[in-house]
Amino acid sequence: MGSAELPAFGKREGEGVRLLNARQDAVDEKSSTRPGNPPPPDPEEVSRMFGRIAGRYDLVNHLLTGGIDVRWRNRMVRAVAGTRPARVVDLATGSGDVAFALRRALPDHVEITGLDFCRPMLEEAERKKAARRHCPNLKFAFGDILQLPLDDGAADAVTISFGLRNLADRARGLREMRRILKKESGRLFILEFTQPARWMRPFYFPYLRHVLPRLAGCISGDVSAYRYLNTSIEGFPPKEQITEEIETAGFQDVRAHPMTGSIVTLHEARA
Ligand SMILES: C[S@@+](CC[C@H](N)C(=O)[O-])C[C@H]1O[C@@H](n2cnc3c(N)ncnc32)[C@H](O)[C@@H]1O
Repeated sequence: MGSAELPAFGKREGEGVRLLNARQDAVDEKSSTRPGNPPPPDPEEVSRMFGRIAGRYDLVNHLLTGGIDVRWRNRMVRAVAGTRPARVVDLATGSGDVAFALRRALPDHVEITGLDFCRPMLEEAERKKAARRHCPNLKFAFGDILQLPLDDGAADAVTISFGLRNLADRARGLREMRRILKKESGRLFILEFTQPARWMRPFYFPYLRHVLPRLAGCISGDVSAYRYLNTSIEGFPPKEQITEEIETAGFQDVRAHPMTGSIVTLHEARA
């Protein structure tokens, strides 16, 4: 799939992303240089890493989470369906699990576009799509969240599941998400790992640090990719900061719904 193959909503014209106000610059700095946190991920490294594990990505996900990941994504999909969108963009779509779940939950006429900047992940998504009999109005295309190939106001809903954590510049990514949403009515849905509830930490962190990379390494053959998963989850800010960052990007009615002892949070907002 080439970068020339763009989603149905049209190619974004013009360069650069608007800065909403000076407060955003402060958050830019805060979100990428918080002391004691790992440096922001390098986009090329991230894309290469997901490219290496693309073939086993779904299997490892389901095994490592005991299948709860499906429930987390379904909760987000139900929330999206409740807003009755006509056009949905799933960012960081990876192998397309959210996009396929959206396809099952929404009427056939709803246009769904899955975007990612890792071609092997997109190839997995295309392979899964080809294996399905009925998959109308679902497209996958190359797209970088920091410079989305979509017009302003192109979408009624934007979803991103386990992708926000990987962005080199979260503030810019959030502004891009707002730009492509219809003003006032457009809705953002972010599913992401968060800092767990206190009671969960004695079990969760040892699992994340010691069990997960080894287990995932055995299945995928790539221990380093899953060490990155561990450090990126542990270094990710608490949901209160993510709420603040979403608000600073210009969104309104920002809400956070923690799940499974706050391992994961569904963030919702209006553009
Ligand atoms: C952990 S996977 C999530 C896949 C899928 N959304 C899911 O729920 O399983 C993260 C995905 O984000 C993509 N990604 C990271 N940064 C990106 C960016 N700047 N633009 C587009 N995709 C990006 C990666 O290529 C990868 O496929």
